[in-house]
Amino acid sequence: MDDLLTKYMGAIAGAADEAMLEDLRLAALGKKGEISLKMRELGQMDPTQRQVAGAALNALKDEIDAALRAKKAALGDAALDERLRSEWLDVTLPGRPRRQGTIHPVSQVTEEVTAIFADMGFAVAEGPQIESDWYNFDALNIPPEHPARQEHDTFFMARAEGDARPPHVLRTHTSPVQIRAMTEQGAPIRVIAPGRVYRMDMDQTHTPMFHQVEGLAIDKDISMANLKWVLEEFCRAYFEVDQVELRFRASHFPFTEPSAEVDIRCSWEGGQLKIGEGDKWMEILGSGMVHPKVLAATGVDPSIWQGFAFGMGIDRIAMLKYGIPDLRAFFESDLRWLRHYGFSALDMPTVSGGLSR
Ligand code: DAH
Repeated sequence: MDDLLTKYMGAIAGAADEAMLEDLRLAALGKKGEISLKMRELGQMDPTQRQVAGAALNALKDEIDAALRAKKAALGDAALDERLRSEWLDVTLPGRPRRQGTIHPVSQVTEEVTAIFADMGFAVAEGPQIESDWYNFDALNIPPEHPARQEHDTFFMARAEGDARPPHVLRTHTSPVQIRAMTEQGAPIRVIAPGRVYRMDMDQTHTPMFHQVEGLAIDKDISMANLKWVLEEFCRAYFEVDQVELRFRASHFPFTEPSAEVDIRCSWEGGQLKIGEGDKWMEILGSGMVHPKVLAATGVDPSIWQGFAFGMGIDRIAMLKYGIPDLRAFFESDLRWLRHYGFSALDMPTVSGGLSR
């Protein structure tokens, strides 16, 4: 029995994997294993012999069984350790190789627009994308039953149960930033407000989220003539052409009086858009003189102050300047698209140094 014990203990200690352990278990304790066969011999012994041998065999069996289990557990731990070692992963590393992307056309154009208007003395104002009904509509002279509300295809936020106030909305335009800026800063004021806006709409030229830039200039003697000059100056700088021609078309917005939609002279030859020449007109923005009720809603006295406002689609002017055909691709995060249409992070647009070089 001592020989058996030494033999199996040595073999178990040296077993390299679970398959070898199982072979050893069968060889010792299986139905035809060495220890099982010895157990069968007990029947031929006389009672006193049997008592001694039986107890010793059982002890041997238990000892081998315990050694097998201990080794199996140890092998399992080692296998787990090995797996943990080989599958170790630093989750704090970047998910993708670095420097794959470029500056998105929307970011680029936002920078260009900001640089041009900064040169004309406009600061940048901001407001929240989740906006109250009052800022997005009422303060802009769009009361609850006004038809303009339907045209905005508004996304509404969920309202807490029992809350009687109108639900907040995803802002449908950047115009509420006019209200916030005037309420905070009063007049005189000269700001632009670029940012994201939302409407329920989706086709080649519409996405549910898009970008606008709002402009606002309030002082004691600001007129439509100033609006026209500022917009012409902007278009010349932005489209990087010497001459532009704008056409003001009478229109209606609740927050301006009078209101005008502005078209730019262009040509479409061979699918190529040229700004400043040709006999086509393309709408690029909405504008007007800020309505006295809008001024009053912000605490600015309309008998002293007046001025202009305008709103322009950033994605739209990006498509026009850089010849990008489909708006939806702007927001698909396709790296191939971004490499084709994107800009170098080192090229900061400035009026003096060039906008898009
Ligand atoms: N908020 C308008 C829109 O999203 C655009 C607009 C038109 C803004 C005229 C203005 C403005 O500031 O004066 O359709």
